Amino acid sequence: MSTATIHDVIGVGFGPSNLALAIALEELAQHNGKALNALFLDKQANYRWHGDTLSSQSELQISFLKDLVSLRNPTSPYSFVNYLKKQDRLIDFVNLGTFYPCRLEFNDYLGWVAEQFAEQAVYGEEVTRIEPELDNGAIHHLKLISRNANGQEQVRRTRSVVISTGGSPKIPTAFEPFKNDPRVFHHSTYLSSVKNLPCSEGKPMRIAIIGSGQSAAEAFIDLNDSFPSVKVEMILRGTALKPADDTPFVNEIFAPQYTDLVFQQPPQDRQKLINEYHNTNYSVVDQELIERIYGILYRQKVAHQYRHAVLCRQQVEAVHSSEQGIELTLRDLATHQQRTHRYDAVILATGYERRTHRSLLAPLEDHLKGFEVDRDYRALASPALHAPVFLQGFCEASHGLSDTLLSVLPMRSEEIGKALYKALKIQTSTHESQAATLISA
Ligand SMILES: Cc1cc2nc3c(=O)[nH]c(=O)nc-3n(C[C@H](O)[C@H](O)[C@H](O)COP(=O)(O)OP(=O)(O)OC[C@H]3O[C@@H](n4cnc5c(N)ncnc54)[C@H](O)[C@@H]3O)c2cc1C
Ligand SMILES: NC(=O)c1ccc[n+]([C@@H]2O[C@H](COP(=O)([O-])OP(=O)(O)OC[C@H]3O[C@@H](n4cnc5c(N)ncnc54)[C@H](OP(=O)(O)O)[C@@H]3O)[C@@H](O)[C@H]2O)c1
Repeated sequence: MSTATIHDVIGVGFGPSNLALAIALEELAQHNGKALNALFLDKQANYRWHGDTLSSQSELQISFLKDLVSLRNPTSPYSFVNYLKKQDRLIDFVNLGTFYPCRLEFNDYLGWVAEQFAEQAVYGEEVTRIEPELDNGAIHHLKLISRNANGQEQVRRTRSVVISTGGSPKIPTAFEPFKNDPRVFHHSTYLSSVKNLPCSEGKPMRIAIIGSGQSAAEAFIDLNDSFPSVKVEMILRGTALKPADDTPFVNEIFAPQYTDLVFQQPPQDRQKLINEYHNTNYSVVDQELIERIYGILYRQKVAHQYRHAVLCRQQVEAVHSSEQGIELTLRDLATHQQRTHRYDAVILATGYERRTHRSLLAPLEDHLKGFEVDRDYRALASPALHAPVFLQGFCEASHGLSDTLLSVLPMRSEEIGKALYKALKIQTSTHESQAATLISA
């Protein structure tokens, strides 16, 4: 099926990045007197923010003031504070005395915003590729091909595209052969996968968690709190669980102005900055959570009842499965001794990769310069490609560590929105030009 409409812009994915863009475009339309014909496609059946990881203890890792819009426009009706007001919970939230709401609540906030843009959103369609529409060697329009849950394809035409499809689960090579085994799963499907395990019926289980980031720590706590029949072993390559550095001077790297500083550096210096601050985001855990895990292990020692363990310096050398369980051969990185452990299930809290833009844009690759972007997140392109392509969440190497997070959404979405108006040469009637027309009349 295909539609005759040519959209000004289609956003692929309707997570926080494109939600922030929808808000920014609405503001720009008010300012410019001309709205873009924008559409957002998301493969999920309805709005959820990392919905399968929303365990009850999980909290936002960023101040609620870094919502979709407040840093740019604190008076916006789409702020988290206005959401709280509309839910009649503002005073209760104030009484909580925190900057860090639970992720279940932030998910609800994002869903509340998404609902207000329902007319611009289509759910349940996965975009599979983005193709050029060649006209005498020039590309003014792109074709977006999507597929719904029944496998039906839909083709849409657009003058520009903003790809904001987020990360995809990183599966270590040793675990790839087990991707259809329900006993081995990535943390991104934590809740629905655990629901199908025997422990959800109270049966005893030994579960391994691979990884030492925030996801691994949250899975540990949830299994401890929700499943008394489960014994957990957290398996990490590192020498210890390490805290995320969220101290105030370091946190300045997530300020919107910092994006300019990173972007202005030559590539090797950008990479140096990213490496230097890696421990603000990757392979690290909130300090409070580390202390909770340590406390749980300490109380085991007091009671002489050993339920869980954190196994440091362990490299997974081999994985075998049998009816009895999943066997992991672990090598101690200090002593080089190997031991085999058997588990009833393995959770891969092994992080995310950012590469879906590459497969979506493969048909356009000859017109793009290695997926590099300019300061406004527009992919560098050959002169023939007049239809601009923007990337959100795939620009960490050029724009810094805030790129995959919520930190700069209000600013980035406005930058992309303004760049879109400019690139599409949308005729606008700003308040200033309206006023000038009135005076000259
Ligand atoms: C468990 C977890 C917790 C996090 N918590 C925080 C936090 O507290 N603070 C913070 O700053 N960052 C956090 N992050 C980082 C996270 O990347 C950002 O919060 C945010 O989700 C980025 O928004 P996004 O829209 O770019 O990507 P996503 O939120 O990943 O959204 C991408 C959307 O695109 C859709 N999609 C993907 N592929 C397609 C396709 N081909 N066709 C159509 N739709 C598609 C997906 O269904 C999804 O809705 C967290 C990440 C994870 C994994
Ligand atoms: N509450 C929240 O807000 C919340 C919850 C979850 C996640 N998040 C966010 O989501 C993002 C990702 O966090 P994450 O914890 O999912 O991932 P992550 O921080 O990237 O951590 C991945 C972990 O997997 C390990 N790993 C990767 N490949 C491996 C392999 N082949 N073998 C063994 N171990 C391997 C890494 O080990 P090494 O260190 O040895 O490389 C690391 O410990 C972060 O931004 C985080 O803040 C937020």
